[in-house]
Amino acid sequence: MAMISIVAMDKKDCNGNTKLESNFAVMEPYDKYFALRRRRLAKIMTEFQEYLTERATHLLGYPLNLNFNHLMDLSPLLLFHINNVGDPFKESAYGLHSKEFEVEVLDWFAQLWEMEKDESWGYVTNGGTEGNLQGLLLGHLCKNNCTLQERAAADGILYTSRESHYSIFKAARMYRMECKMIGTLMTGEIDCDDLRAQLVLNKDKPAIINVNIGTTFKGAIDNLDLVIKTLEVCGFSDDRFYIHCDAALYGLITPFLGQAPKLTFKKPIGSVSVSAHKLLGSSMPSGIHMTRKKYVGVLSRNIEYLATVDATITGSRNGHAPIFIWYGLNIKGYKGIQEDVNKCLIRARYLRDGLRNAGISTMLNEFSIIVIFERPLDHEFIRHWQLSCVGNMAHIVVMPHVTIEMLDDFLDGLVRKRSVWYRHGSVQPPCLADEMGISNCSCLDHGKGLLDGN
Ligand SMILES: Cc1ncc(COP(=O)(O)O)c(C=O)c1O
Repeated sequence: MAMISIVAMDKKDCNGNTKLESNFAVMEPYDKYFALRRRRLAKIMTEFQEYLTERATHLLGYPLNLNFNHLMDLSPLLLFHINNVGDPFKESAYGLHSKEFEVEVLDWFAQLWEMEKDESWGYVTNGGTEGNLQGLLLGHLCKNNCTLQERAAADGILYTSRESHYSIFKAARMYRMECKMIGTLMTGEIDCDDLRAQLVLNKDKPAIINVNIGTTFKGAIDNLDLVIKTLEVCGFSDDRFYIHCDAALYGLITPFLGQAPKLTFKKPIGSVSVSAHKLLGSSMPSGIHMTRKKYVGVLSRNIEYLATVDATITGSRNGHAPIFIWYGLNIKGYKGIQEDVNKCLIRARYLRDGLRNAGISTMLNEFSIIVIFERPLDHEFIRHWQLSCVGNMAHIVVMPHVTIEMLDDFLDGLVRKRSVWYRHGSVQPPCLADEMGISNCSCLDHGKGLLDGN
């Protein structure tokens, strides 16, 4: 058990968020205490590693794959500052880069999403958020036919479902785009009737649409084909809309499912963003942004002192990340990723069935690895398993490192705790019919209302 704690459990700020309390103040390495100081640093690092190990074995609520031991092979690269500043397809004056690996990673994703190599452009990002910011900026500028300088005059409207990731709304604020929040179905996917109603009211303005290939909380996949059809029905020709696909987690899941709707550049989409540290797994955040080459010109600028072209959100770019992704793809291949995806789907159903059999409200969307269920009452239990919660719901993302043993351990603990929380009947499990549908709700009115052992 780790001796250090970096989070103070009971201290909240004025917004009710838990404050971070650190034991790691930076101290001056005075010469006469140098040896002592080095021993102290080593001790802190050992304890921090123990803390991380414990936390890693109890990570259920967030979409990170913690199985990446193969990346230890790359540890010698930590001795180098690898920086892919600028366009991945252009040389720069800075020689310690990994752009050769980056373009091969991009080629792999171009093939996955069916785009010709010479028609695609992209880069390895810092994660799904950066890919979203880049994709929506391209959509904003391209569909308004304007440059960064002229964008104040842009009148395109961003349409996205209310269950979209917060980075989409942040992009709207950053780029000062008018944003229409579209309603969702019970599954969490975009309601195309509502989308149509909004589009017809704004026919004269270009439409920039964010399509969720897996929402953050419910893992709902927006119906891309229906979104395209809705645009057509409302009279939007290809040149008056831009579709960005936020495929942070499911971008590496849906291609490996036979029946899932296809994400492909053969459809009229403008860009895709996926996180690489999610399904693929990595010790550092990273992702892939991909678009059509014809769009990127609006952002490209020659930077003389770097002898390269800038077209990316950030300047300096992590040069280790493309190598980590490249290595992971080489080690796993399509077959390995397919196996991971199948394993996650089977275990997600196992968890859903376990919850349901214990009389707990739960929901699992088709093609999804995110199991939603009734929020546990105990904050310590939520912290222990690092569950993600919204309102009366919690979720578990069944990633490749989540074993059946972890799920059994979690289920046993939850069932035991619930029998205490709800023992006297003064507090009842919440009704989740509105959030999950009556058939998934086990509250006293809609379900068996069963409490294990009662
Ligand atoms: C749908 C969706 N989009 C974007 C993101 C952001 O990805 P990242 O954390 O890699 O920036 C997430 C993260 O969970 C997500 O679920």
